[in-house]
Amino acid sequence: MDELLSYRDRFPILRDCIYLINHSLAAMPAAAEDRLLEYARMWRERGIRSWGEGWWEMPVTVGDQIARIIGAPPGSTVMHQNVTIAEEVVLSCFRRPGERRRVVYEEANFPSVRYLYQAQPDLEVVAVEDDAAIVDAIDERTLLVPISHVLFKNGEIQDVAAIARRAHEAGAYVVLDCYQSAGVVPLDVTGLGVDFACGGSVKWLCGGPGAGWLYVRPDLAERLEPTFVGWQGHARPFAFEPELEYAAGARRFLTGTPNVPALYAATAGYDVIEEAGVGRIRERSLALTQLLIDQLDAAGLEIGSPRDPARRGGTVLVRTPDDAAVHRELGERGVICDFRPGAGVRLGPHFYNSEDELRRTVAELVHIVESGAYRRHADAVARF
Ligand SMILES: Cc1ncc(COP(=O)(O)O)c(C=O)c1O
Repeated sequence: MDELLSYRDRFPILRDCIYLINHSLAAMPAAAEDRLLEYARMWRERGIRSWGEGWWEMPVTVGDQIARIIGAPPGSTVMHQNVTIAEEVVLSCFRRPGERRRVVYEEANFPSVRYLYQAQPDLEVVAVEDDAAIVDAIDERTLLVPISHVLFKNGEIQDVAAIARRAHEAGAYVVLDCYQSAGVVPLDVTGLGVDFACGGSVKWLCGGPGAGWLYVRPDLAERLEPTFVGWQGHARPFAFEPELEYAAGARRFLTGTPNVPALYAATAGYDVIEEAGVGRIRERSLALTQLLIDQLDAAGLEIGSPRDPARRGGTVLVRTPDDAAVHRELGERGVICDFRPGAGVRLGPHFYNSEDELRRTVAELVHIVESGAYRRHADAVARF
């Protein structure tokens, strides 16, 4: 038995269903409930003193835990609510772009990231087909290259190093969205040389909603001046000075009052990820996704995600005759997964899923497709 299976009893939901939706909302660690109770206790018993006893510093102290997971130095990563806000903080450093006003990304970038850049009146967005095309599209007009480390739809790992090299040659900045890699694919933002990295915690980090994060390359953090800033970004927030003076380092990328309960909950997930180790998690993830691919191949179902381990993230995409209906039927049979319109059903095992769960999932999938059982959900639509 794989030793990571011993973590199963720390995730209560695994007792009730086959939980294969870790690319969307990973299983809650039982410890998250204890953390939230601790938050409530502090609020109840310590009241305002809680700020001085840890709450105020949490965007930085929790950010340091993320930093350990993503290969960043201490003090370089701060917590926000979500990726959209983290990317907006980055964007806000470049309010008057001038001649260099292009944003280059690929079509498969996550929608909220695409929408945010599209909505900027001073920027010109160039969307290209894939990661190789990004390298070709970057030139002296390029300001920002916001990319995903692992694509959300099909779990494909992108060639970040090649993009970062080309971007820096041309004088552009790379913003790496690591939402689909942090916690399941080893990640070294320092080694990759990216300028910014961001992500959230609901997926492979098992940290729940409301705990996004932003890494800024330490030398850049000293000179960039975000215009989306609040009092946590001031050098002396409790002096309540009328004029802005940026805090040193990544703190200047903070906004206002932090999302304290979300940060309490999130650390329970990060603790398990650190303890299990992303290296060991990746090894198990590759074994589990390979098992899924082999089983789906044997059943004659079409795979829509990469087979090559070097390009394969944590999710396997399988094409079915009606993804919405098949997904609904799987849910009724106790298999929790999702689908993306036009792409396929997404199966995302994490380190705590067992081989037996995956075999049962494929058996159910095959039965649903071959028997036509999915047809009774002809009205099923995309949600979550
Ligand atoms: C790659 C990627 N980026 C971003 C997000 C979410 O962005 P936000 O935190 O703004 O909701 C997701 C999924 O929800 C994602 O898969």
